[in-house]
Amino acid sequence: MHKYHTLTVASVVSETSDSLRIALNVPENLREVFVFKSGQHLPIQLSIDGKLVRRTYSISSVPGETPLIFGIRVQPGGKFSEFLQSNLKIGDHLEAMPPVGRFHAVPDPQKAKVRIAFAAGSGITPILSIMRTMLENEPESRFVLFYGNRMQSTTMFIEDLQALKNRFPGRLQLYFLFSQEDQELEIFSGRLDKLKVTQLYKAFCKKMIPDEVYICGPGTMLNGVKQALVSENVDESLFLIERYGALVNRKTQQLIPKAPANKKGSLVEVIMDGHKKSFEMAADGPDNLVDAAAVEGIVLPFSCRGGVCATCRTYVRSGEARMATNHGLEPWEVEKGFVLACQARPVSSKLTIDYDET
Ligand code: FES
Repeated sequence: MHKYHTLTVASVVSETSDSLRIALNVPENLREVFVFKSGQHLPIQLSIDGKLVRRTYSISSVPGETPLIFGIRVQPGGKFSEFLQSNLKIGDHLEAMPPVGRFHAVPDPQKAKVRIAFAAGSGITPILSIMRTMLENEPESRFVLFYGNRMQSTTMFIEDLQALKNRFPGRLQLYFLFSQEDQELEIFSGRLDKLKVTQLYKAFCKKMIPDEVYICGPGTMLNGVKQALVSENVDESLFLIERYGALVNRKTQQLIPKAPANKKGSLVEVIMDGHKKSFEMAADGPDNLVDAAAVEGIVLPFSCRGGVCATCRTYVRSGEARMATNHGLEPWEVEKGFVLACQARPVSSKLTIDYDET
């Protein structure tokens, strides 16, 4: 389950001048392993200049569909994305871990829900999967999307969105905003910040009672959207949020005090895929479980290492561990005993973490 598998590139095309659309074939014998819920992401690893580099990308295709499609924004200077843009071709192999992530939705054909989504840039990638899944499988449900980009030419998946609009004209409302291109209506110019979201919500959603709200984008955008909706009396418990970018922010890191190490070090037991392994974590060694396990030759799942993607999510079965930062877990998960292993260190002399607990 927590292993990387080799998938073959079925196609790779430029989605915009600075983004790619990649399709991966999943062989018959791995179809069950790669079953996913719309909105989840795919951890991918590559060897670049002899070093393993990992990233996670949200899947944009819908469950049950092959190949798996995902989009990536090519970041200037971005080691991984630039490597893919320059080198990846049909027939190449990529190492991928089965899809993970809590930012997901499961359709119920009996339900008639109103869903509102806010996406910025490549934040559209999981939202596209969720939208399509819901529109195709819940015939009475509606979807409203506000999608912010710099300009039309850099807008990922714009044709897919317009095609969806043509298929579901009565149940899908699409609003594009551009920050570097003037629009005929001023309300569609600018970024999805607090003021703009308040204007949009008052103009287009005031008569709706949302059942679910999806927000995906960088941290600054998430905060603006949340604040605007809360001030419009949208219940915060309806929000499902996925953050990207700005992986390590020192200010937010300090929100959770750095966990003190157990002075004598700790014995860490790992349960994964039904097997047990253990290692000693020294007090003066690496400050998180992922790195400490690697020193002992034990590979734990991880991707961003920044406390964001939750690829490293694990359950503390016994003992105590504390995280340095957390952008990837919901309060209920922390309360239940889940931690991000890339951010956590033991504070008890013995710790058991269980990757099989979901
Ligand atoms: S590896 Fe991404 S949150 Fe830990």
